[in-house]
Amino acid sequence: MSQAFTRHRRLRKTAAIRSMVRETRLHRTDFIQPVFVTYGTNVKQEISSMPGVYNFSMDRIGEEIQEIVDLGIPAVMVFGVPETKDSVGSGAYSEQGIVQQAIRYIKEHYPQLVVIADTCLCEFTDHGHCGVVHAHEIDGHIHADVDNDESLELLAQTAVSQAQAGADIIAPSNMMDGFVYAIRAALDDAGFQDIPIMSYAVKYASAFYGPFREAAQSAPQFGDRKSYQMDPANVREALREAESDVQEGADMLMVKPSLAYMDVLRAVRENFDLPLVAYNVSGEYAMVKAAAQQGWIDERGIVTEMMLGFKRAGADMIITYFSKDVARWLREE
Ligand code: PBG
Repeated sequence: MSQAFTRHRRLRKTAAIRSMVRETRLHRTDFIQPVFVTYGTNVKQEISSMPGVYNFSMDRIGEEIQEIVDLGIPAVMVFGVPETKDSVGSGAYSEQGIVQQAIRYIKEHYPQLVVIADTCLCEFTDHGHCGVVHAHEIDGHIHADVDNDESLELLAQTAVSQAQAGADIIAPSNMMDGFVYAIRAALDDAGFQDIPIMSYAVKYASAFYGPFREAAQSAPQFGDRKSYQMDPANVREALREAESDVQEGADMLMVKPSLAYMDVLRAVRENFDLPLVAYNVSGEYAMVKAAAQQGWIDERGIVTEMMLGFKRAGADMIITYFSKDVARWLREE
């Protein structure tokens, strides 16, 4: 009998043994918390599709940052909601831009906290696209043609102004071809050779970004992002995207979204040695929150499994709106 089958349960017998054979662990330093900064004063406004996530005005962002620092989370990702937008996204690369102000504030008061700047134009353009748009009509439909090379110049300018404000890491999310190349060159020219680029190398045209676009008021006003973000059906293309970013000088690679793209995380992990980031996006957060509020799922259990899944698939770091929650739970363990 003893030879006939394998007793896997021997290693599951006690909590102590289970902890010794555990292959993947979560640590608070795996996590990056996104924060939203907006104009005005005394604003702490909950994003309706993202319970527990708020838009803060500059005078109140400190409350949120303090909490993040107290929980031992090492990094934040800063997103800005500007008061005014225009066709070329000037607010993205203005010295007085909302993100630049927020970065300066955070670095002044919390110098140890790693500040990651999302480099994109979509929160700052009135049309909501990630670059410069030339719109034209075909058969009564408006087509948004985002000019790649013109956009690169503005994105490079944005990255440099974020670095000048004090950003520790530049994270371009705009999906223009050559964005790592253009941003690396501009950063180097401006004397920021030591600022790493966390490239949103593999970013899909995903319905999972819906709640974020509510938060950042950045939904495209016409057309969609399918001519620059990736087709969710493709994984070989993800390797080509990652490859070109590595060649252009990316220091870290990201896959976004995460939940429906675990195979992509695994594929990128197996093909590249750079640190790998999973972005657990707004729609993934919203789904869990909504079900939890109904009492249909165990939020802590579900979130913990998701986070373990991202790490098991190959992620070294996770950008998630659950970062504070996870850090709190880890402290209780
Ligand atoms: C900016 C950007 C987006 C997200 C991160 N950076 C929006 C988009 O591409 O539409 C989405 C993040 C999320 O859904 O949590 N381009």
